[in-house]
Amino acid sequence: MKTIKVKDYEEMSQKAAEYIIKKVRNNPKITLGLATGGTPVGTYRNLIEDHEKNGTSYKHVTTFNLDEYVGLPQENPQSYRSFMDNNLFNHIDINKTETHVPNGNKETLHTECKSYEKTLIDHGGVDLQVLGIGSNGHIGFNEPGTSFESKTHIVDLAPSTIEANSRFFESEQEVPTQAITMGIQTIMNSREILLIVSGENKRDALFQLLNGEEVTESFPASVLRNHPCVTIIADEAASANIKYGI
Ligand code: GLP
Repeated sequence: MKTIKVKDYEEMSQKAAEYIIKKVRNNPKITLGLATGGTPVGTYRNLIEDHEKNGTSYKHVTTFNLDEYVGLPQENPQSYRSFMDNNLFNHIDINKTETHVPNGNKETLHTECKSYEKTLIDHGGVDLQVLGIGSNGHIGFNEPGTSFESKTHIVDLAPSTIEANSRFFESEQEVPTQAITMGIQTIMNSREILLIVSGENKRDALFQLLNGEEVTESFPASVLRNHPCVTIIADEAASANIKYGI
């Protein structure tokens, strides 16, 4: 894993955007895997600014998002579809039909999971997956204990994840309790991974990822150590207690 230490959230966002822009310019037909949450918002803002200023085009780019809540209407501002539209897709020249987010409102969620996985494979897989990390080590919504062999599936969210994500909702009761997420194997199949980490509340998770003793399903992000091409951009607040490697 390659680690890049930056000063703060702004620098992380700038560096991550530069990384993505370079890949898009090198391969205008790239397939990007995208994440939601507070961490990538600044990165997306930088992508938009660059698109407006320098004209980087997303016309031929395809995207697959990691996850989506179950049972939230897509037009709900907290759905990950709305998040992506509002924070990125509506502001760049991407073809919306090529932006894929799991649909958490299908009656047959298992069929939706299978078809999401199949569409991804039919597209040739993800070239560059952007990832955040949960403070309990989750990636996507793959909570501790998820099999490393998992494909796109339905998950029950951990109480700590519901609590962490309640900041985006009026109350904790409004946070959905389930989600559809790419599986760990789905994520590991991407050719390259860019993990962005910011803030003191991610310090323990980053420490365990870089300095933890073992690769274990009880800390999902540890699987990234087995991936051949991972770059981590982490800010000082997140990496303060890292002993080596960053
Ligand atoms: C969320 C998302 C993840 C995200 C993580 C961290 O619940 N499902 O994809 O990486 O948890 O979120 P944040 O960036 O808001 O800290």
